Amino acid sequence: MYGRHGLIEEKEQQSLALHSPTSHSSDAFAASPHPPNAQAEMRPEMRPEMRSEMRSEARSETRVGLKTNVQSSAIHSVPTLRVLHTSSSQRRSTSLREGAALARMEAPEAEEQGGLHAEHVPQAERPLSIPRPAEPAKKPRKITVRTLREMKQRGEKLTMLTAYDATFARLLDEAGIEMLLVGDSLGMVVQGQENTLSVTLDEMIYHTRCVARGTKRAMVVGDLPFMSYQISPAQALESAGRLVKEGGAHAVKLEGGEEVVPQIAALVRAGIPVVGHLGLTPQSVHAMGGFVVQGRAPEQAQAIKRSAIALQEAGVCSIVLEGIPAALASEITASLSIPTIGIGAGVECDGQVLVIYDLLGMSPDFKPRFVKHYADLFTSISEAVQTYRDEVKQAEFPRSEHSFF
Ligand code: KIV
Repeated sequence: MYGRHGLIEEKEQQSLALHSPTSHSSDAFAASPHPPNAQAEMRPEMRPEMRSEMRSEARSETRVGLKTNVQSSAIHSVPTLRVLHTSSSQRRSTSLREGAALARMEAPEAEEQGGLHAEHVPQAERPLSIPRPAEPAKKPRKITVRTLREMKQRGEKLTMLTAYDATFARLLDEAGIEMLLVGDSLGMVVQGQENTLSVTLDEMIYHTRCVARGTKRAMVVGDLPFMSYQISPAQALESAGRLVKEGGAHAVKLEGGEEVVPQIAALVRAGIPVVGHLGLTPQSVHAMGGFVVQGRAPEQAQAIKRSAIALQEAGVCSIVLEGIPAALASEITASLSIPTIGIGAGVECDGQVLVIYDLLGMSPDFKPRFVKHYADLFTSISEAVQTYRDEVKQAEFPRSEHSFF
């Protein structure tokens, strides 16, 4: 669930016209570049001219200039090349390229025949039979319910982002995001629906499976969609069971307070970790009268606080707090031993969650108060696509280097 039409204050609700397809946000964007910072280390016995050759190959992040005329004796030195990068993703892609470089050295003629695509890295990365340099196999420690508890105890902030496919899952996982939420917000940002109510369990399972395939370390949380758990604990068990079994989810999330405690208890008894969701619960959009901030009225705040305790006692491993006053979220966070994850709930929550497309500025006309655009991908993608269109129309793409002979 997700207040996609904007988490709006009741008093602003009438006047705000979000989702205008033409209005583009003029907010300043803070990009977060990741410079490659590569550095090659070699054995001292390597010949100097080879070292510089290897070094320049190692530094070649892109596809240009990989040489094919290296003597076969050089092959034996290749495994000694280690390339140090700042992130595990860069480390992995570099080792793939080392494998590709090796392949080219072993069979330069294959490259000439077009068997290895000298300047098309993804193809060249494929030769699986090539001996790889021995790398210490360092498996990332998986995020589990225990990690969440420990992080809360240490006072370490948790990060959660939505993901709906394997490509984004891999990106976010390798960037170190601890929890990937396959949110039913996909109904809005992927399917273009008005709200999340029409999303089906089969759709959630499909997207969860895609995300699980792209994830190695993060905890994958699958949303239980509207009417897949409200009817009874038995229905919740059946739906959550499918998300775990067929979708590969590590945990499920469901919306609601004291009224869904029996469902949560049943799932926890069955060994399924559950994330709760309180405050603005978009599956109740019609009951709330829109995507409006919750918990301003004292009796509403009391009900949310009571629900948070009830959910914790029922065994949830964390609770998403959406669209509530920061002070209320802070009070709830302090009262719980499990982590809270906020969206539009202030900085005192134990963690934060955003919809990935919002963070990346992919819908410039959607900029409610709780969203920060960390990039302007709408503009970047739009410019790239326009350049492609122009180049195709003017027969500037593809060039000879993109063609086969
Ligand atoms: O569906 C979703 O994406 C969510 C988050 C916004 C919390 O529930």
